[in-house]
Amino acid sequence: MKVEQKKQTEKIYIFDSTLRDGEQTPGARLNREEKLEIARQLARLGVDIIEAGFPVSSPGELKAVQDIARQVKGPVICALARCVREDIDLAWEAVREAARPRIHVFLGASDIHMQYKLQKDPELLLEQAVEAVRHAKRYTNDVEYSPEDATRAREEYLYRLLEAVIKAGATVINIPDTVGYALPPEFGGLIRRLRENVPGMERVTLSVHCHDDLGLAVSNSLAAIENGARQVECNVNGIGERAGNAALEEIVMALYIRRNSYPYHTDVNIGEIYRTSRLVSKLTGIPIPVNKAVIGINAFAHSSGIHQDGVLKKKETYEIIDAELIGGKAAQMFLTARSGRHAVQHQLEQLGFTVSEEQLEEIYTRFLELADKKKEVYPEDLEALVLDHLSAAEPVYSLEYLQTISGTGSIPAAIVRLRKKDDTVVEESATGTGPIDASYNAINKITGLNIDLDKYRIDAVTQGRDALGEVQVKISHEGKTITGRGTSTDIIEASVKAYLNGINKLLVAQS
Ligand code: KIV
Ligand code: ZN
Repeated sequence: MKVEQKKQTEKIYIFDSTLRDGEQTPGARLNREEKLEIARQLARLGVDIIEAGFPVSSPGELKAVQDIARQVKGPVICALARCVREDIDLAWEAVREAARPRIHVFLGASDIHMQYKLQKDPELLLEQAVEAVRHAKRYTNDVEYSPEDATRAREEYLYRLLEAVIKAGATVINIPDTVGYALPPEFGGLIRRLRENVPGMERVTLSVHCHDDLGLAVSNSLAAIENGARQVECNVNGIGERAGNAALEEIVMALYIRRNSYPYHTDVNIGEIYRTSRLVSKLTGIPIPVNKAVIGINAFAHSSGIHQDGVLKKKETYEIIDAELIGGKAAQMFLTARSGRHAVQHQLEQLGFTVSEEQLEEIYTRFLELADKKKEVYPEDLEALVLDHLSAAEPVYSLEYLQTISGTGSIPAAIVRLRKKDDTVVEESATGTGPIDASYNAINKITGLNIDLDKYRIDAVTQGRDALGEVQVKISHEGKTITGRGTSTDIIEASVKAYLNGINKLLVAQS
């Protein structure tokens, strides 16, 4: 059925920028292990291109993109660069070991960007764009060019600019609605006119990149597809700069569910959407709104009596997407303290994680500790253990010992002992408004950092009194905001782990 449909319809290439534009969401910083895990999952999801990062932004980012280029097979691996030589050289350094590398260069094209941000003459900038494409082309044939803020640019300038970069060798032309300003008919019209008026456009892939400032990113992307765009740039859960980017799952599912109206298909494996969405949410610390299309927990819940009655009689009365279609109903098999390594490894594989023998040993030890406390270890518990393991990579401080006192009429206090990277151990005690505040005060004394706690959130990973508590914190220090997560059956320990995870990420980012 699917094969037959693909023969008759045109393919839309899915360019995922969760690890680049998505990671620009405030606080969504990921470490190398976390980025690699998300990239592996994106490959399983079947995206065509992974924009793995912006290598010039930090040495850690360069290494993270290199890891992905070396280890993630299947999609094209792309790195972003400004139209300057140093950026392009580093972008190439980052992706050169990929089987199919791409360099993506961008430069402001609207008057407002050229006059105020870049403060350069439009004709000089056009030359700079051409030179950047030529430079990238020395490294790889696959070069994408984006005229930033294209939807507010003068169209006549865009035509000349795009003709010139295509002549210089760009193979993909991406039209960004950088500030989410366009309306769907307007954006569709722009895409159509670019195809009609830019010589050479028929030889390249036309792509779009829409931001969601007016909540129109997905509609704009669909309007662009109808007018000739064949690559869409989008992010899992719609995360991204400011209000985010077009949500990958919404575009893919709109094309799939309405396939009788749209003569297009993607190669996305939609059964992996649910898992990808959860993974990205947990590792970035950005929760999925309950009412989010396709993946929010309310997307499949029916509350009014009339709706419930209708769904019970026939599901399709009020449901257009079956949760199972996107992988939403995982089999509820559980493990116990008697389960061996093999069973744990099997469950990890079912969850989509590939772990080395060394990692399996560490996860198995933590699994046994958890199984001692909890009788039944569910897939969600195991997933939380693995994510903890990934997030704990590169620790500057790790927790050795924690004791807290609290209760009615007593002053909450905590003793915290941390091991530093150089193996020294430091202990401090502090009081606070509660045991968590006291523990955080003790950690601040040890690290000497004056951390602000902007947000604190706790969820139970599964049901029941023995459930794992999962804490996410948003912390900031000297203008940098970062999220941290931690899990434990003891919620104070989970809170301390989340705080330390955030501090470790901050320190690694600053080093
Ligand atoms: O929004 C934007 O313009 C971008 C470009 C780098 C494509 O993210
Ligand atoms: Zn963007």
